[in-house]
Amino acid sequence: MSRRRRIYEGKAKVLFEGPEPGTLVQYFKDDATAFNNQKKGIISGKGVLNNRISEYLMTRLAEMGIPTHFVKRLNMREQLVYELEIIPVEVVVRNIAAGSFAKRFNMPDGTPIPRSIVEYYYKSDELGDPMVTEEHITAFGWATPQDLDDIMALALRVNDYMTGLFLGVGLRLVDFKLEFGRLYNDNGEMRIVLADEISPDNCRLWDVTTNERLDKDRFRQDLGDVEEAYREVARRLGVLPEGEVREMKAKRSEAKA
Ligand code: TMP
Repeated sequence: MSRRRRIYEGKAKVLFEGPEPGTLVQYFKDDATAFNNQKKGIISGKGVLNNRISEYLMTRLAEMGIPTHFVKRLNMREQLVYELEIIPVEVVVRNIAAGSFAKRFNMPDGTPIPRSIVEYYYKSDELGDPMVTEEHITAFGWATPQDLDDIMALALRVNDYMTGLFLGVGLRLVDFKLEFGRLYNDNGEMRIVLADEISPDNCRLWDVTTNERLDKDRFRQDLGDVEEAYREVARRLGVLPEGEVREMKAKRSEAKA
């Protein structure tokens, strides 16, 4: 790991130079932060699970015609991705009130929203990711109106598809955050593509019958069983790593004995 050139280190991932020009290796850490780095911790095994979960979701989305930066998973903690020009905007899609939205409008968590809402936040740790409008984004030149049209359309398609996919495994997709970037081909043509990761770090997922939180809110709100929640999401999607499946089966038969 140390021989490769490190391009960028974020709170949950590291990006290294990839094997070919135009590619990067995305390494998933176990580090977790919340409230813009004020709360820090380790969710052991998270990196391995998020690598699998994000691989699975990005692959399904690509099959639906959503362009993504994902190329292939390389090993337990790494995946090969295309190098993009990242748009510094976090795109949040909400289906049910929770988190900062519930707080802003003084609504109890779980209140239905009349329709899915897309919000934008400026990606800046220094400023604490302030909420922004299309006006700020286009005036500051972070994205053009055409980019934003594409982003909005892609975000809503991702929402429709993932809402159904998660419902199929007994999970309600309450809200989630996406990031996008620009990918240029050899002719200099540009496409907006889905970047970053999609995992319980950046989605709120509630069990449909019990409303149990199976996402990073368990860490943010000290609800306990954080690792188990991530593992449960991977298990329901059918992407729990082999070793983990064996371990779980062994634990289950131990409990029965
Ligand atoms: P919020 O309710 O805290 O604004 O979060 C909305 C969604 O976005 C939730 O699924 C968690 C995700 N999220 C991130 O992925 N990164 C962030 O920095 C924040 C604040 C939220």
